Amino acid sequence: MAKIVGGITTSHIPAIGIAMAKGLQEDPYWKPFFDGYKPIQAWLENVKPDIAVIVYNDHGLNFFLDTVPTFAIGAAPHYQNEDEGWGIPVLPTVQGNPEFSWHLIESVMAEEFDLTMCQEMVVDHGLMIPMTLMWDHTKSWPVEVVPLAVNVVQHPLPTAQRCYKLGQALGRAIEAYGEDKKVVVFGTGGMSHQLQGERSGFINKEFDRMFMDKMVDDPEALAKLTMTEFLDQSGSEGAELIMWLVMRGALSEKVNLLHSNYHVPISNTAAGVMLLENTD
Ligand code: DHB
Ligand code: FE
Repeated sequence: MAKIVGGITTSHIPAIGIAMAKGLQEDPYWKPFFDGYKPIQAWLENVKPDIAVIVYNDHGLNFFLDTVPTFAIGAAPHYQNEDEGWGIPVLPTVQGNPEFSWHLIESVMAEEFDLTMCQEMVVDHGLMIPMTLMWDHTKSWPVEVVPLAVNVVQHPLPTAQRCYKLGQALGRAIEAYGEDKKVVVFGTGGMSHQLQGERSGFINKEFDRMFMDKMVDDPEALAKLTMTEFLDQSGSEGAELIMWLVMRGALSEKVNLLHSNYHVPISNTAAGVMLLENTD
């Protein structure tokens, strides 16, 4: 049977890709951020997951504002990266696993989550930056990927509660897969940030710290946050945090926190990284 070996949260800020391409990992601005990933890279190297389910958001590359699915899942044999205008190097194509994707789709749909199914999908910084931070990627990637895109761009967004419940259905679906596969689930984006309007540059460290604490032992409280509370307390793009709740929902009720790092700011954004493991 497939097994969820862990859950990871990570930022997806485009500037990270540019910093990596320029080799700035030891630069004083970047070092405290990149150092926060070393324990997770070592854990991945040791655990060697077969598949990564990456909950991310598309920023207008595959879905533009004319057609925005609330939840969309990839069922393609591969996902090509394209840079949507940030000047990030285009990275090797990511391999999919259509059989596993279709299993997830069938299980989750049976639990009344109506996903948009994508047999072709291009992926932007929302998916690629998290991967870049985890694995060496000069030629290819060491995992197969299932992209799960959540709309955090065009209001109304799905509620935090809906995202958490989708995660629970996803967790059940993953663990019901008949083949022995080690699966890691990613929740990407966040933390507090606002890229637009009068409050652009807004960051709320207190909210972020609270969010990281409750990701471990009280995710139900986070799932009760309304979209207005997210917008007010974490900024308009801080609402990306609902994607962390999909990942958290997929894990067991009790989890062990294996590693976390919070660094602020990177570009315009507070960056949080966490590694969680199921207790059962
Ligand atoms: C930044 C953050 C994002 O979440 C994003 O999608 C693009 C840019 C930033 O902080 O620069
Ligand atoms: Fe983003």
